[in-house]
Amino acid sequence: PFRIEEFRREIIDGIRDRVGDKQVVCGVSGGVDSTVLAVLLHEAGVNMRAIFVDNGLLRKDEAAEVVNNFHRMGVPIEKVDASERFLTALAGETAPEKKRVIIGNLFLDVFWDAVGDAEILAQGTLYPDVIESASNENSKASKIKTHHNRVDRVLELQAQGKVLEPLAELFKDEVRELGASLGIAKDILNRHPFPGPGLAVRCPGDITKEKLDIIREVDAIFISRLKDHGWYDKVWQAYGALVPVKTVGVKGDERSYEWACSLRAVVSEDAMTADWVELPYSILRESSNMILNSVAGINRVLFDVSSKPPASIEWE
Ligand code: XMP
Repeated sequence: PFRIEEFRREIIDGIRDRVGDKQVVCGVSGGVDSTVLAVLLHEAGVNMRAIFVDNGLLRKDEAAEVVNNFHRMGVPIEKVDASERFLTALAGETAPEKKRVIIGNLFLDVFWDAVGDAEILAQGTLYPDVIESASNENSKASKIKTHHNRVDRVLELQAQGKVLEPLAELFKDEVRELGASLGIAKDILNRHPFPGPGLAVRCPGDITKEKLDIIREVDAIFISRLKDHGWYDKVWQAYGALVPVKTVGVKGDERSYEWACSLRAVVSEDAMTADWVELPYSILRESSNMILNSVAGINRVLFDVSSKPPASIEWE
């Protein structure tokens, strides 16, 4: 059996041994893995910096929440607000893969600028990531991880023994358990997966601040309905996306000509396949009413009943 207390002590001792009095830097997203990593470094008492890049593609209030969560845990965090840079770089681009490349490259520029002359880089790489990078070079997941965890600069540091991956023997469930034993709040540990490119993969076509703000409102309403009705923890991932097609509607006494949005909720084991979830109609009705009453720019709400394959989980 996996003995968490003992394991936690071992990991923390291992970090102290490796880091000594050098400075260690880690990137944090607010997700489970990087949060657990940052808390472990903090608990180890080493000289650490946690860097959080706001790429302007985060959900409603997410940047403030991440910073606030770290403050609550007493772990120092540095937020780099690069949202304008990302929006400028993305302006006018409509091709999904090109959008991904722009975001990935800019993220690396911004992150490494903030890191400066790091003595040690800590990453929240998990066991499945290690396996995927080694055995399955062509899968999308492995390309994603490759992009963030195994890029040139990282390989260079790795060759010099300057990359620390304290979670590399763990599965996700074990990371959650470890997180709980470190006192990390349940709402952080049970967060749905959120993609690195953020809302860019929920905004087909070109990305504008106006569209992102609409997605943020739609998503926040839908997620709040799921939480209030006890469905958030029953689904693997759920979100609102923009369907940038304008159709005619009526708002008040006026004809409207506005975009549609899509609500999506799936269950999955590993994201390679996924089933859409039969949410209660009452949740859909409540979400739809609230969205149509309060989100300017949306006059139609759709529920996505597509499983993966052939659909993907995200809308890009
Ligand atoms: P798709 O849309 O390919 O998504 O069915 C499968 C899962 O992967 C997540 N996803 C990403 N996660 N970086 C990530 O860290 C990415 O670039 C990325 N793209 C998709 C997606 O949210 C879903 O859970």
